[in-house]
Amino acid sequence: MDQLMIADPAAEETLIEQEAVAQKRIRRARAILGDEVVILGHHYQRDEVVQFADFVGDSYQLSVEGARVSARVIVFAGVHFMAESAVILGREDQVVILPNMKAGCSMADMANLEQVLGAWEELGDVLMDDPASRIMPVTYINSAANLKSFVGEHGGTVCTSSNARGAMEMALAERDKVFFFPDQHLGRNTGRDMGIPLDEMVLWNPFEPYGGLSDEQILNARVLLWQGHCSVHQQFRPEHVDLWRRHHPEINIIVHPECMMEVVEKADFVGSTASIIRTVEAAEPGSKWAVGTEMHMVNRLKNDHPDRMVQLLSPFSCLCSTMYRISPLDLADVLENLVEDRVINQITVPDDVQHNARLALDRMLSIPR
Ligand code: 13P
Ligand code: SF4
Repeated sequence: MDQLMIADPAAEETLIEQEAVAQKRIRRARAILGDEVVILGHHYQRDEVVQFADFVGDSYQLSVEGARVSARVIVFAGVHFMAESAVILGREDQVVILPNMKAGCSMADMANLEQVLGAWEELGDVLMDDPASRIMPVTYINSAANLKSFVGEHGGTVCTSSNARGAMEMALAERDKVFFFPDQHLGRNTGRDMGIPLDEMVLWNPFEPYGGLSDEQILNARVLLWQGHCSVHQQFRPEHVDLWRRHHPEINIIVHPECMMEVVEKADFVGSTASIIRTVEAAEPGSKWAVGTEMHMVNRLKNDHPDRMVQLLSPFSCLCSTMYRISPLDLADVLENLVEDRVINQITVPDDVQHNARLALDRMLSIPR
């Protein structure tokens, strides 16, 4: 159960005690397992878990790291699609474990293969041609493995928030249009950054026939944006930017590109989690920052840099509640099972999906950040 959700103080105390014991269990199991296991952690992971990670990074860095890990077992303190990517990029003899199988991504769940195949067929109808002759599918890494495979099969690529522009530039150099899923905001912000007019970027509603678009809209579009979003980043509003600027005119606003365009337009800097960290780390002591991304990362940044003001852009808690599902207890359980030679919570990707998904992920890794 989520620690944040508990109303009963006695139950909360018990959970805090259990988590403290779990930390000892983790240390003990790790000492026995040694180099056999590597723990990878995303920046959004909470401190009690991420402190055990051998490597902490954003989605791109974790994919690169996952691909070169020599350990037999990778424990992924992130969310499901990240662990799947580690399976696809890893060696055949490696095992990838997600400490809590409920740690998914609500954005990734907003596009499934059936919907995307349906959309592809409808696009073919309108173009009266194989859509791959005109349209490049690009999927954000926050998507299921079978969507990455779809993209690989049709000559497209995966991207992360740190190389979305490179991916979209490559796509539009090779074909007339990009079909970008599942995050409309990353797609729109990237297109806008490239100077693509808003009326050439249309929104594809997966619950409407032909995405709710006319033939003319589809034919004129350069970018077709899937109607998906991140429930964490959509909580940042343009009014939050205005409020900070009113009280601290000298403040720097830095946001993740999963935020809506109206927020990104008002920000001073936009970047992936790793680039937000780099920017704040390189800033002058005394400088002020309001950060539009997940709160565990922002709190860590704030605690690591007490000589500058670092605050969450929103006045409300913005946490990735699905990543938060991984607790120290879950980590202790998977590691202790490994000590007993038992693998629990293994993430696998079907063989027929692996090949094309790997093509799309390799292409992503070849696009500079
Ligand atoms: P990056 O790690 O690419 O910055 O993306 C953030 C995110 O939402 C991960 O799911
Ligand atoms: Fe998914 Fe948003 Fe969480 Fe990232 S922050 S894992 S996009 S729900």
